[in-house]
Amino acid sequence: MTELYGKVVVVTGAARGQGAAEVDALARAGAHVVATDAEPVGDCRRLDVTSEQDWARLVAELRELYGQVHGLVNNAGITWRARLDDVRPEDFARVHAVNVTGPLLGIQHLSPLMPPGASIVNVGSSAALTGHYPVAYTASKWALRGLSKAATLELGPRGIRVNTVHPGFIETDMTASAAPVFREANLRETPLGRTGTADEVAPLVVFLLSDAASFITGAEIPVDGGLTAHGGVKSISDALAEARDAS
Ligand code: NAI
Repeated sequence: MTELYGKVVVVTGAARGQGAAEVDALARAGAHVVATDAEPVGDCRRLDVTSEQDWARLVAELRELYGQVHGLVNNAGITWRARLDDVRPEDFARVHAVNVTGPLLGIQHLSPLMPPGASIVNVGSSAALTGHYPVAYTASKWALRGLSKAATLELGPRGIRVNTVHPGFIETDMTASAAPVFREANLRETPLGRTGTADEVAPLVVFLLSDAASFITGAEIPVDGGLTAHGGVKSISDALAEARDAS
């Protein structure tokens, strides 16, 4: 049931990282994948998610080629690691444009081509479940949760599902650009004690796009090694376990 044969699926931010892994996994499941990115490589089409013009052009092409679109993965995203005291409004707005307005435009433009049974997956973040320090990124991913919930309500009557996945620390260019202490702190807070890979997020995206998830909508699923499951108490648990072992 996780097959996607005959389904046309659009993935944003597909040139690398999680998007590229999703494209591979979706194609292996049988989907016809339309890979897009602002900085396209290989078979990717150019699509800046913040550009209404780019979306309109893609929609016109897909309507002509396939008539319908069965899936959308709003994966494109950027981070900005300024903290509360030094984030500038223009950077806050730029992150919001890609991480929130981009998915909004994708949903607005593609949902008219979607038949009942279609599925949208928004890529959130563990930052969307916590008070993560890069405030522009965190606020944008929380806003994406709100967009997902509203879209669930609006599109449900048409049989279109909307779900959100929340990756934790995944090994991509995005996390490679973070300070080493960020990685170490993440490892300390992650019950599985390791980082994740893009190939560990992609199968969930495939599942949510497939008919196997036909009654799942409005859901939010962390893929984070347990990072957000303990609500910040892992360091307390670890400290007590260490004290017990030492006595
Ligand atoms: P990445 O930086 O490796 O890839 C992001 C892709 O998005 C790039 O190919 C980039 O060109 C594209 N992109 C950026 N701005 C765009 C725009 N305006 N229009 C179209 N494409 C654009 O990052 P990664 O890790 O693959 O991120 C994928 C998603 O996962 C993002 O939404 C990110 O916020 C989210 N995420 C990543 C985590 C991680 O640990 N890597 C953790 C939680 C969430």
